[in-house]
Amino acid sequence: MDTEQIRHSLTELGGTFAQELAQAGSRQALEQLRVKYLGRKSPLSVHLKRLGSLPAEERALLGKDLNILKVSFENRLAEAQQRFSERPAQPPVDVTLPGAPPPMGRLHPVTQTMQEIVACFVPMGFEVVEGPELDNEFNNFDALNIPRDHPSRENFDTFFIDPASGGAGAPRPDPKLGRPLLRSHTSPVQIRVMRSRKPPLRILVPGRVYRPDPLDASHSFMFHQVEGLMVDDRANFADLKGVLGLFIERLFGPSTKTRFRPHFFPFTEPSAEVDIACAGCGGRGCTTCGRKGWLEILGCGMVHPNVFKAVGYDPRKVQGFAFGLGVERIAMLKHGIRDIRLFFENDLRFLEQF
Ligand code: PHE
Repeated sequence: MDTEQIRHSLTELGGTFAQELAQAGSRQALEQLRVKYLGRKSPLSVHLKRLGSLPAEERALLGKDLNILKVSFENRLAEAQQRFSERPAQPPVDVTLPGAPPPMGRLHPVTQTMQEIVACFVPMGFEVVEGPELDNEFNNFDALNIPRDHPSRENFDTFFIDPASGGAGAPRPDPKLGRPLLRSHTSPVQIRVMRSRKPPLRILVPGRVYRPDPLDASHSFMFHQVEGLMVDDRANFADLKGVLGLFIERLFGPSTKTRFRPHFFPFTEPSAEVDIACAGCGGRGCTTCGRKGWLEILGCGMVHPNVFKAVGYDPRKVQGFAFGLGVERIAMLKHGIRDIRLFFENDLRFLEQF
């Protein structure tokens, strides 16, 4: 072979080396390549040996080329070795260890309390019904026998919806139903249900209500109520006491003392508020109960005849009772929470305790 032919064969050699290197799939394959392309019997070595017999000029030039190729083969083999170098040893996985627990959500304490309250009444035959939070003056006031000049109808006690502020889709005042509003209690759902169904009825209405009260430890502009209504031809005040007595026993324990105190609501007559003996002091008086020994938990009474008239029932043929309770208040009593704002701040340090 003359130097021209040798140069040509070197180009081919570079090509086959690159191909075989790319296909080498193990350390062993790499070692075989090393022997084939760099070993004593490799074409490179043979050419290098023959250099001595060439004229000085050609020897220098070809020698340089041969060396460049040799170094390139060596480097690329070393690089490829790294692909198969062993990873640092890892400790074996212990599959018997418990897994990392995924973070679990839970129900909000107000939701939990609401469900507990509902669960007390369901066995007594009460059916859960819901109504809209956006209602109107007729359902929230008029049909409930709340007169036009009642203070709760003032702007600062009810969120009336201003139709001008809501664009094209805003609810409009209606000659019969009055102004749209955010319901200030769950009692309008009594009206909705009685207008659409005939007695007998036994319903329970959990839901959100709204009042423009400034936020403080016991007031929030949004809170939750559970409303109850029972109507048939004989439901009386003794039934009301029985149902609420059972409810309080189930929720607060069988030995909880209760008292019915006369009160006034436009939509019930007679009306009462129900108190339970303060658990903090056992009735002796402390800061929790404002030294009264009793804690108010709900309002109730016999449905007013005017309410039956407003929904098209005949007050001479039907009678019944209604009650309404504040869910946050009950949750606060049950858990000894002193500030209603805690429920709505979304602080996980608080929420995770329930
Ligand atoms: N709606 C009354 C309130 O929000 C509670 C209530 C309901 C009282 C039903 C009597 C009967 O204060």
